[in-house]
Amino acid sequence: MHSFTLAGRTVGRIGYGTMQLAGPKAMGGPADPQRAKAAVRAAVDAGVRLIDTSGYYGPEVANRLLAEALRPYPEDLLIATKVGARRSPDGSFVADATPEAVKAAVRDNLAQLGVERLPLVHARFMPDSTVPWAETVGALAELRDEGLLEHAGVSNVTRELLDQARAVTPIASVENEFHVGHLGGRDVLDATTAAGIPYLAFRPLGNGALVKETSPLTSHARQLGVSAATLALAWLLGLAPNVAVLPGTSDPGHVADLVAAQDFSLPSGLRAALYEA
Ligand SMILES: NC(=O)c1ccc[n+]([C@@H]2O[C@H](COP(=O)([O-])OP(=O)(O)OC[C@H]3O[C@@H](n4cnc5c(N)ncnc54)[C@H](OP(=O)(O)O)[C@@H]3O)[C@@H](O)[C@H]2O)c1
Repeated sequence: MHSFTLAGRTVGRIGYGTMQLAGPKAMGGPADPQRAKAAVRAAVDAGVRLIDTSGYYGPEVANRLLAEALRPYPEDLLIATKVGARRSPDGSFVADATPEAVKAAVRDNLAQLGVERLPLVHARFMPDSTVPWAETVGALAELRDEGLLEHAGVSNVTRELLDQARAVTPIASVENEFHVGHLGGRDVLDATTAAGIPYLAFRPLGNGALVKETSPLTSHARQLGVSAATLALAWLLGLAPNVAVLPGTSDPGHVADLVAAQDFSLPSGLRAALYEA
């Protein structure tokens, strides 16, 4: 598996995101928890060693399923978590970014995942937060100094927010949305490439839109004999060597198409054509 260095570990650039494990309906959990756990196990069996999760997926549901599916965790598995938001009763995500909330969320993630230290925690920027961003990021730095986490990252950031965070503490990774259907924030991606900071592209299948029959990728994928999912991820991996992808699936049968992206190179011309499309 083509790998890169993230949070002091060598991991493949195809990751796995647990948000789908919590099920389509927030708070209630997945319709079939066994299938959800089989999906995450299938990802790890296929060589995935980077998992993105959060205590607010569910809430708690994704982390608990992850722990049930994988404990004892493989030694080389890197689980990245996120704090700075919470799920409101209507299922939407809202800011929860005071230093106290960040510290409580890190402790919750530790307990839910059943680990003593988190290797990588992202502070997710929420536009509705009234807390100065530097204070949210600073809380992660304090927890790192206390030994509860090893590395601090940021998520959903603009270039300005990334620079503000880097002025507070070293930033180990950026987790932002980027894919063929969402090209905004290229300046952040380019800044991470220039600075040698790993960039984790979340929602890399456009939350499923890029794998639908109506996707701009579908006809190209068919001609190339790969799935649209493989094409979408390979396109992202080809952008820069510091990019990893965080697709999510609750279907164990979908994992092979995701992992296949690491060995697929787009024909010359198609990369630019998809950017234009
Ligand atoms: N930092 C943040 O603010 C943030 C925000 C959103 C998401 N994320 C991260 O990004 C991860 C992925 O996001 P996401 O799950 O919303 O979107 P996604 O990975 O872009 O797309 C997931 C959708 O694609 C489908 N799918 C996956 N693999 C497929 C395949 N091989 N063939 C056909 N369909 C496939 C899934 O359905 P099936 O389940 O049926 O496969 C699901 O409907 C999350 O789990 C989370 O870790 C982070």
